[in-house]
Amino acid sequence: MKDLFDKIYKDKGPLGKWADQAEGYFVFPKLEGEIGNRMKFQGKEVITWSVNDYLGLANHPEVRKVDAEAAKQYGSAYPMGARMMSGHTNLHEQLQNELAEFVNKEAAYLLNFGYQGMVSTIDALVGKDDVIVYDVDAHACIIDGVRLHMGKRFTYKHNDVASIEKNLQRAEKIAQQTGGGILLISEGVFGMRGEQGKLKEIVALKEKYNFRLFVDDAHGFGTLGKTGAGAGEEQGVQDQIDVYFATFAKSMASTGAFIAGDQEVIDYLKYNLRSQMFAKSLQMQLVVGALKRLDMLRSMPELKEKLWENVNALQNGLKERGFDIGTTQSCVTPVYLKGSIPEAMALVKDLRENHGVFCSIVVYPVIPKGLILLRMIPTASHTMKDIEETLEAFSSIRERLENGTYKRLSAGVAAAMGN
Ligand SMILES: Cc1ncc(COP(=O)(O)O)c(C=O)c1O
Repeated sequence: MKDLFDKIYKDKGPLGKWADQAEGYFVFPKLEGEIGNRMKFQGKEVITWSVNDYLGLANHPEVRKVDAEAAKQYGSAYPMGARMMSGHTNLHEQLQNELAEFVNKEAAYLLNFGYQGMVSTIDALVGKDDVIVYDVDAHACIIDGVRLHMGKRFTYKHNDVASIEKNLQRAEKIAQQTGGGILLISEGVFGMRGEQGKLKEIVALKEKYNFRLFVDDAHGFGTLGKTGAGAGEEQGVQDQIDVYFATFAKSMASTGAFIAGDQEVIDYLKYNLRSQMFAKSLQMQLVVGALKRLDMLRSMPELKEKLWENVNALQNGLKERGFDIGTTQSCVTPVYLKGSIPEAMALVKDLRENHGVFCSIVVYPVIPKGLILLRMIPTASHTMKDIEETLEAFSSIRERLENGTYKRLSAGVAAAMGN
């Protein structure tokens, strides 16, 4: 019989196998200093394009002050216990009410982390007779939630309306046999490519098919829509989203998340979400901090305006220089280049060391082989100078990628990896 750990010794997994070459630099890099447009990487200042602090709230003096005061008043323990047992407070309730109002829903419920909360919400919404239909490019937390499901599930081609309809038809057949219902899950914004989920088209399918729509709007909340209520508001279909989800990890620059929907649905989830029933309540300093951030989202529209000014300057600048930024419809700014993983590593090193530009790099298996995706997140705290310097740097790296410089520089690494 095999030792359970045999596989660990032999195979580190699709990303772990790069650890020797990548750790500390390409993965698990240490960004130091105050969160903002410029931070320190290995002692050197870099323009930071990999932090989801969309509205620049992470280091806003008013936010820092409220966070510090809340920590002083409540410590990091209060309240102890799960919400249902001993972890419930007026401020948790107040935050839920304000979040619900902000996203135009009757009620909301807090989640400790978006990831677990998403897994748990999917788990609570479906039983074995129900069918899930979801986008093939869904975030890992959706995939893991679907994994818990004991019944049928169908993926549809990314944002493809014909494929959505085909899979709704398949789901309907099964649901008619089992006597169950259908849950359709999409993201408001797909975090890698930046496309918005086709919520308007999905909602139109409600005329023909009987399903409920669950939207993970992690990247849309605070960045899209007239008031910042997200992708549903942007597309004019917020009222047709049956369960709305957003995390505090992006625009809100914090930790925690929430779901929102009709009162009866949220009441049901409150009593059935295992991630909240069997885990400690969101700590008070996060709740107080979220109330402050939400207040700023509502009262300081200039933050979102500045964010979009920067998004447009960066995305237009890249397009004008002939870069392929795909079909993004959000702040998420992908830059697609062609090259191998070792070339991508040499390119990112050049960007960081010689141009002081820090952005995340995404390679196979997250995207197809032979493509390099540099993923950039503009925020309200970036300046035009940051954008201009970055655009110059990008022109330079493209030239070096095309003239084979990175291929030569990475030849040793490529040989060692058998690439
Ligand atoms: C689309 C999406 N859903 C869910 C999550 C998970 O949220 P959290 O960081 O609060 O666990 C993330 C990442 O933060 C995300 O990008």
